[in-house]
Amino acid sequence: MFNIIIFGPPGSGKGTQSARIAEKFNVKHISTGDILRAEVKQKSELGRQAQTLMEKGELVPDDLLIKILHSSIEKNKDAAGFIFDGFPRTIVQAEALDDLMKELEETIDVVVSLDVPDNEVVDRLLKRAEIEGRKDDNKETIRNRLNVYKEQTAPLLAYYMKQGKLESINGVGSIDKIFEDVVSTLEKYLS
Ligand code: AP5
Ligand code: MG
Repeated sequence: MFNIIIFGPPGSGKGTQSARIAEKFNVKHISTGDILRAEVKQKSELGRQAQTLMEKGELVPDDLLIKILHSSIEKNKDAAGFIFDGFPRTIVQAEALDDLMKELEETIDVVVSLDVPDNEVVDRLLKRAEIEGRKDDNKETIRNRLNVYKEQTAPLLAYYMKQGKLESINGVGSIDKIFEDVVSTLEKYLS
């Protein structure tokens, strides 16, 4: 299996690049944000628990996310690998993912981190607000999402750096150029 994590602040292009990576490397795209938004739309119990937190830009509790992760992997047992987008977001989640990989006798091969400055992500998300109307794309919530990223998620960079798996990529520029950089980085890890 080829297992990749895509990492970066809100609006850094995780979803955009993941869709292309999934196609190019034949891996299954697992976006926890997309899964949660679908649950909210279906008004499921999980969606009900997640909705208010998502609208505030807060993280949904780790235990719920870990359950989502388990069932997504279970449903895709035959996949040639995964690209995890938006997961893990806390150390607890990262440890749960490592444990799960171990159970499967698999490993995370590489973590691609997209570097994009705050002013650029704010511009992108406000632009998307006009087109898509995602509930968390408003000035106040974007500011909170960025703070939550810095406080709770950015520490994972050190976690994966220690494991020797971190690859940082400049996430500013054209989507095609960034994808080229991502592909050449990922190719180094294909065995
Ligand atoms: P999630 O859905 O993961 O949102 P996010 O991390 O805030 O990131 P986005 O999806 O907004 O951005 P992205 O990095 O995917 O960029 P995109 O490609 O869309 O999470 C939402 C919420 O769910 C969280 O706040 C939390 O509440 C909850 N949640 C999810 N996972 C969780 C977890 N594991 N634990 C706890 N809670 C969790 O691009 C953004 C925009 O920019 C698009 O319009 C795109 O077209 C454009 N764009 C992309 N690339 C470029 C470029 N190179 N140049 C210009 N524009 C670009
Ligand atoms: Mg996304």
